[in-house]
Amino acid sequence: MPDAINPTLALLHRHRSIRRFTEEVVSDDDMTHAVAAAQMASTSSAVQAYCLIRVNDDAKRKRLVALTGDQIKVARCGAFLVVCGDTRRHRLVAERSGQPHHQNLESFMIATIDASLFAQNLAVAFESLGLGICYIGGLRNHPREVDELLGIPFGVFPLFGMCVGRPAEGPTARPRLPIDAVLFEESYPDDRTMLAALDRYDAHYVEYLKERDAKATPWSTRIAERFDHLEREELAVYYASKGASLT
Ligand SMILES: Cc1cc2nc3c(=O)[nH]c(=O)nc-3n(C[C@H](O)[C@H](O)[C@H](O)COP(=O)(O)O)c2cc1C
Repeated sequence: MPDAINPTLALLHRHRSIRRFTEEVVSDDDMTHAVAAAQMASTSSAVQAYCLIRVNDDAKRKRLVALTGDQIKVARCGAFLVVCGDTRRHRLVAERSGQPHHQNLESFMIATIDASLFAQNLAVAFESLGLGICYIGGLRNHPREVDELLGIPFGVFPLFGMCVGRPAEGPTARPRLPIDAVLFEESYPDDRTMLAALDRYDAHYVEYLKERDAKATPWSTRIAERFDHLEREELAVYYASKGASLT
């Protein structure tokens, strides 16, 4: 198994989202070490188009619980972080030197890709310190309210949250797609080959759910349901209001 090959692979294989944490606050040392390591993620032309907002204030954390869809863990974790795409500092240096600052879909993508690479490095860094994490996409449920709460300026795009803390649970690993549904040689496989791989995954996934006494809905059924309607339709208008161009 690849997880036995070296400690880094073993750490990556140990990942599970943690949704229950002890009351231990994430120390400033752990935070600094993790963020500094995360900053070493590759970044498009070194633009480093991201920032991180740590929310400590109890009242703000409680409000974020409500705004993220009653996710209690947002208040009950050792640190709650908001990962943002950040083009503001690019705009500031352009304005200071009297140069125009243009934004298109490419610059928004650069910011979201850079921020996501940074965030995943951050997650792994925390896990290497014995902490657990859970990303919080629910942060995009009510973007304007989150924006107001955190004082987000023009040029900054809150993307998702991250709960961090000492795990108070040890969930089993959620199975991933088989490698042949993800890794292709030379070209994309035909649909029949893909669907056959997904059928195998469904069977594996249902077994995993049964073992956890969860409703045994196949992955493909969940995915079809997940995308049979649109969610968070106000995001384009919100991000555009912060300076993103989506064309
Ligand atoms: C961008 C992103 C947003 C997510 N948002 C949430 C969330 O709002 N609440 C939650 O409990 N888990 C959230 N998750 C965690 C996923 O549900 C989880 O990663 C996935 O089910 C796989 O499980 P695992 O991380 O335990 O392997 C999110 C994950 C990602 C990458």
